[in-house]
Amino acid sequence: MKNTVAIILAAGEGTRFNSVTPKVLHKIFGKMIIERVIEIVDDGFDKKIVVVGHKSELVKKSINDKNVLFVEQIKQLGSGDAVKQTESILKNFTGDLVILSGDVPLLKKETVGKLLSVHKKEKAAATVLTCESKNPSHYGRIVRNSDGTVKAIVESKDATDVIKKIKEINSGVYVFSSKELFPALHKIKNDNSKSEYYLTDVISILNREKRKVIGYKINDFREISGINNRYELALAENYMREKVLENLMLSGVTIVNPATVYIEETVEIEKDAMIMPSTIIKGRTKIRSGCVLGPFSYIEDCTVGKNVEIRASFVYGAEIADDVKIGPFSHIRKETKVGRYARIGNFSEIKKSIIGENTKVSHLSYIGDSQLGKNINIGAGTITCNYDGKKKHKTEIGDFTFVGSNTNLIAPVKIGRGVLIAAGSTITHDVPDNKLAIARERQVIKKLKVKS
Ligand code: UD1
Ligand code: CA
Repeated sequence: MKNTVAIILAAGEGTRFNSVTPKVLHKIFGKMIIERVIEIVDDGFDKKIVVVGHKSELVKKSINDKNVLFVEQIKQLGSGDAVKQTESILKNFTGDLVILSGDVPLLKKETVGKLLSVHKKEKAAATVLTCESKNPSHYGRIVRNSDGTVKAIVESKDATDVIKKIKEINSGVYVFSSKELFPALHKIKNDNSKSEYYLTDVISILNREKRKVIGYKINDFREISGINNRYELALAENYMREKVLENLMLSGVTIVNPATVYIEETVEIEKDAMIMPSTIIKGRTKIRSGCVLGPFSYIEDCTVGKNVEIRASFVYGAEIADDVKIGPFSHIRKETKVGRYARIGNFSEIKKSIIGENTKVSHLSYIGDSQLGKNINIGAGTITCNYDGKKKHKTEIGDFTFVGSNTNLIAPVKIGRGVLIAAGSTITHDVPDNKLAIARERQVIKKLKVKS
């Protein structure tokens, strides 16, 4: 795509979002809307220009892409005025301009490629990406000449009843020959219902000047649907979600009741894993075969080995080895590693800890900043007291140790291997290997004074 520049319009406030956050910074399926649009023109363009305006500093800061050039539109006077702001940096450019809307993120790269090649083949001054819609609502309508070329785009708010009936709509995506576009842009006026300088008015101007304006029509309306409010955001996200689930199911992953499952496109799942209802899997998560995840689980940025079960639990930023069982109601936090055959049970929280192979933390425990060896049994209600109000301290427990129920381990503390800690102990000092530690009050039996 040599001699081609992409312009992305993202200066508008997105009033219909009703939000303090600019529309293009809202996330769709885990990624900002604007990031997705920039990705569409990721490769091959000479320049990528993003026109910013509303809360421009925030938008610029949020776009972490060195290849993007920002152009400022100080006042949001319309999409035509937005494009005009790029004129000075493009004054020596004579190639094609691909214009995208910052709020049309589902567009495919291939579609942009086809739009460009049609534009070049037809030697058009402008090529508009269009689509038929059963419900064209707020979209601009495409008015064609009798020879099939495009005569005008009429905004819905300015359309007569006859024009409103047209089903072919403007996607907000165009290719212009740059030397045709800028002179026409200087001729647009704001005498319309929104008092804005519409980019779409360029089409009728070019048409009047006998320049060739064509439409390239695609079939899938969802691909070009604009995101103007949170309802449209949810619809578009749902479309993406369904596509991801469909691909996973076709690749051999079982998903029970897909309507309730949310899996981001960044997640990798091997075949023969099973995703149960109401489960969310996000970020850079990798899941091996044979896992049963859910029902009711949240998994983010994790690597999960083979045959792991995670039921009704929150797990994020963790590494889970093969054959581990987690839940129900476990909370496994960042930087935790759980070894093979380990078991983390109900109401147990594990924070930044290593849990060795075949170790069991089955009930009601808090394990934080700890390193647990292999084949350990942590009794119900065991707490590592890792925080003294200022600093976090480490707990270490050796292989084959048995920690009785309701033990407090006051960190920093080191428990050896093969140790037995009596239930109810509060352990304040290190315990050497193969020893029994009891740290609790002796039971006393006293006579009861019973009033008769
Ligand atoms: C626009 C089109 C409409 C098309 C629809 C497709 C115009 C006049 N209308 O309508 O024909 O069917 O997109 O989604 O273009 N922007 C600026 N600066 C401004 C105004 C807008 O940068 O001063 C940007 C917005 O951030 C947005 C894009 O231009 O990314 C389109 O603006 P928007 O207000 O969303 O136009 P629509 O009413 O959706
Ligand atoms: Ca829009």
